[in-house]
Amino acid sequence: MNEESQKTGPTRRAVLESGAAAGFFLATGLPATGQQMPTTGDDDAGIRVVDPVELTLNINLRNYSVGVDPRTTLLDVLRNHLGLTGSKKGCDHGQCGACTVLVNGQRINSCLTLAVMHDGDAITTIEGLAKGADLHPMQAAFIAHDGFQCGYCTPGQICSAVGMLQEAAVGWPSHVSETLSSPSVSLTDAEIRERMSGNICRCSAYPNIVAAIRDVAGEV
Ligand code: FES
Ligand code: FES
Repeated sequence: MNEESQKTGPTRRAVLESGAAAGFFLATGLPATGQQMPTTGDDDAGIRVVDPVELTLNINLRNYSVGVDPRTTLLDVLRNHLGLTGSKKGCDHGQCGACTVLVNGQRINSCLTLAVMHDGDAITTIEGLAKGADLHPMQAAFIAHDGFQCGYCTPGQICSAVGMLQEAAVGWPSHVSETLSSPSVSLTDAEIRERMSGNICRCSAYPNIVAAIRDVAGEV
C-alpha cells in the first residue's frame, strides 16, 4: 500500500477517478445532485468544504430549489447548478459585465454576489427575456442593428440594456447627466454609452449596441 492510499478519507486521486460527479465537484466545489456533501473541514487537497445551504431562487418566473456551498456566486449557481449558461463569465471580478442579470428588476453583476443572498429574489436571465418565440424588443434590436459579433458579451449587454432603460425611466442620473435631479432622462448617445460602460465588448460592437438601445428607447 503506497503512502497516498494509507491516508484516511478520499484522496485527491480518488476524487479525480470517480468520473463525471468528480468533474462536477472540481468545477464547482459542490457535489452533483444526489451526491453527499463532505463533512465540514479540510480535505486532503486543502480544500475547505462546508455544508450546503438550501435556498429557493425564482428565475425567469420559475422556482428552483438548490443546495449550494454558501461561497458560491449567483453566476456559478446559474451556470453550473441550473444549466442556465446564457449568463457568461468573462472575468469573475466585476470588470466585464458579461454576467449581468436582473435581480428584482435591477441589473447586477452575478459574479459579484453570492447566491445565498438572493433566496426568494426574482431573477431574470437572458433565457427569460423572450416570451415564447417572441424576442424581447432589446433582443430583436440587437439583431436588427448587428449589435454583436462573437456573442459572448451579448447576454450581459442585453440584460444590462433592459435594466438601464428602467433606471433612466425612473430618472436615475449618470456621470454625464447635466443635472442630478432631472425627473426624466434623455437617452442621448452619450448617456447610453456612459450607462453601458460596465459592459465590455471585445468585438467592439459598441456603435451598433448604442443604435439598438436608442431604437428601443424610442430616441431615434
Ligand atoms: S464575469 Fe462578472 S463582471 Fe466579468
Ligand atoms: S460581441 Fe464579441 S465580445 Fe461583444
